[in-house]
Amino acid sequence: MRLDSLAGRVAVVTGASSGIGRVLALRLAEGGARVALVARRAEALAEVAAAIEARGGVACSVVCDVGDRAAVEAAVARVEAKLGPVELLVNNAGVGGHRPFLRWDVADVEAVMRVNYLGAVYWTKAVLPGMVARGEGWLVFVASVAGHLPSPDESAYVASKFAMVGLSEVLSMELEGSGVHVLQVCPGVIRTPFFDAEALARMPAAARRQMREPEGLADAVLRALARGRHRVTYPAPLAAAYAIRQLLPRFFRWGTKKAALPKDAGAGSPADRT
Ligand SMILES: NC(=O)c1ccc[n+]([C@@H]2O[C@H](COP(=O)([O-])OP(=O)(O)OC[C@H]3O[C@@H](n4cnc5c(N)ncnc54)[C@H](OP(=O)(O)O)[C@@H]3O)[C@@H](O)[C@H]2O)c1
Repeated sequence: MRLDSLAGRVAVVTGASSGIGRVLALRLAEGGARVALVARRAEALAEVAAAIEARGGVACSVVCDVGDRAAVEAAVARVEAKLGPVELLVNNAGVGGHRPFLRWDVADVEAVMRVNYLGAVYWTKAVLPGMVARGEGWLVFVASVAGHLPSPDESAYVASKFAMVGLSEVLSMELEGSGVHVLQVCPGVIRTPFFDAEALARMPAAARRQMREPEGLADAVLRALARGRHRVTYPAPLAAAYAIRQLLPRFFRWGTKKAALPKDAGAGSPADRT
């Protein structure tokens, strides 16, 4: 279903304190949506809310760890009390980390899965029944090209994004005809604090050349919502690699290993990166 106008819509953006979520929240507010900004850092959220309000928009900050189901349910109640029923949910909060699987602690794998995948499950579970009952709603899942294209040293992240891609594709089929539209967003490499200085320094030149700005991604997301699309890959030519992986798996393995980050890239724990 096409999202014809954002005016007056109640939107939630998780991970709105930084990067892609911050820019998406600003864009949604510019379009007239009333935006609930969700993340853990209250000060960073207050800065985004102030930027929205300075431009005449409406925003409210909701401090919440998306990996905590009870906290998510309390946050949804707070958003709905302040702004009304959630009409557009952007599941964007996420963490990463680069290291071989043997060097991942199970607790860190669980932490990545809890934020990147279960966080989206908790938020979606909390708002979807209302959307279905009203016969209208939009669910946006900010996954990654890593949800279609596995690469070495990113096992926890890739697995969490494959899970999110799977969930969003199943939901988009299950919800067909319900009035609730599902959009999967697959960014390539986007310039945000997701990549700390160390990760940037180690990033292969080819990946750095492909780096895009979050504003371009946000525009592509809004266009995809307006057109009623189910998936947007940004930049779009990266989607060709999905077909290459399926049709030429040996070539895909060779190319991916060649382009992958060095083995010791960004070896800190995911908790260090959040
Ligand atoms: N940048 C890229 O190249 C790229 C590519 C593909 C996909 N993505 C995906 O895009 C999404 C946004 O990433 P980004 O690049 O914008 O990174 P970012 O600048 O590091 O932003 C991550 C956001 O997630 C929030 N977050 C992290 N853990 C959280 C938790 N437990 N509860 C609530 N919020 C949490 C952070 O806020 P707090 O720290 O305040 O909680 C922050 O607002 C992620 O899902 C990421 O996987 C990014």
